[in-house]
Amino acid sequence: MILVTGATGGLGHQTIDYLLTSTPAAQIAALVRDINKATELLERGIDVRQADYFDYPALVEAFQGVKKLLLVSAIAFTDRFHQHQNVIDAAKQAGVNHLFYTSIQRSSDFVMPQVTESDLATEAYLKASGLTYTILKNGYYFEGLGYLIGSEVPQTEIRFPAGDGKIAFVKRSDLAAAMATLLTGEGHEDQEYTLSGSEAYSFADIAREFSALAGRPIVYKNIEEAPYIAQKVAAGFPEVVATFLAQWGAAAQHGMLAETSDTLERVLGRKPTSLGEYLKATYFWVS
Ligand SMILES: NC(=O)c1ccc[n+]([C@@H]2O[C@H](COP(=O)([O-])OP(=O)(O)OC[C@H]3O[C@@H](n4cnc5c(N)ncnc54)[C@H](OP(=O)(O)O)[C@@H]3O)[C@@H](O)[C@H]2O)c1
Repeated sequence: MILVTGATGGLGHQTIDYLLTSTPAAQIAALVRDINKATELLERGIDVRQADYFDYPALVEAFQGVKKLLLVSAIAFTDRFHQHQNVIDAAKQAGVNHLFYTSIQRSSDFVMPQVTESDLATEAYLKASGLTYTILKNGYYFEGLGYLIGSEVPQTEIRFPAGDGKIAFVKRSDLAAAMATLLTGEGHEDQEYTLSGSEAYSFADIAREFSALAGRPIVYKNIEEAPYIAQKVAAGFPEVVATFLAQWGAAAQHGMLAETSDTLERVLGRKPTSLGEYLKATYFWVS
């Protein structure tokens, strides 16, 4: 039995979609914290189990009979490490053999607030747990771009505090496809993989791609963090979120998300989604 946590979220749900292409539903379990969101999973014959990462006894119960477990990391601005510890300990107690953890890409020593410290602590805890592990250092989602620069085609410019920093963006569904392949494959014991896009893009590259698709000049303007945060707050984001978004610019400037690895391409057996493909499908979609 393979269990996927975060099964009502983007990555977990899409991983289950891909698992279903190769694995009978009866061999797939989904961990959800809100059963009301799981109707469609139940209808597809998935073994839905309910527990919150904070509820240790419920996790032990939910993990019974599971051999491989994908721990979809908890969201930022919550006590991520405590939740991950609970899942790892419960997996061990329930007799899970192999735990896969979704970390984030770290191509430099930059510490991303709310993310890196809990990832580092979780990875160390998992390695010391005695469980067989696979650490998946996922690249920054293309889907995150809309939060950083807006979800409409920019009129004339992109304003973001990333300097010349690059990001090897990756589409979440490409990651999900890779998760499903890794979960059903052999030979990933005690391994760490960086699952990035095949190419890293600066925000000037993104502006150029937008220009080509929109057929008008769109430029990138590097701005300081403070005006960027003010602009986001004015657009309705809470200040703490706006500051978090600005930090991805700092992460890009420090190279945290820039390294490209061919692992994802090899696991998928094809090129991951490119910037041009993503922008065209997302920003220039016509119904
Ligand atoms: N690489 C990147 O660019 C990037 C970007 C954003 C996030 N992330 C990380 O990757 C993870 C997966 O991404 P995603 O896009 O799938 O996020 P998502 O859509 O927000 O899904 C997160 C899932 O985790 C579940 N969850 C959260 N807290 C939980 C708890 N205490 N107990 C049980 N389940 C809990 C959520 O349940 P509910 O449906 O009930 O809320 C949801 O199913 C995120 O959680 C975050 O750690 C990575």
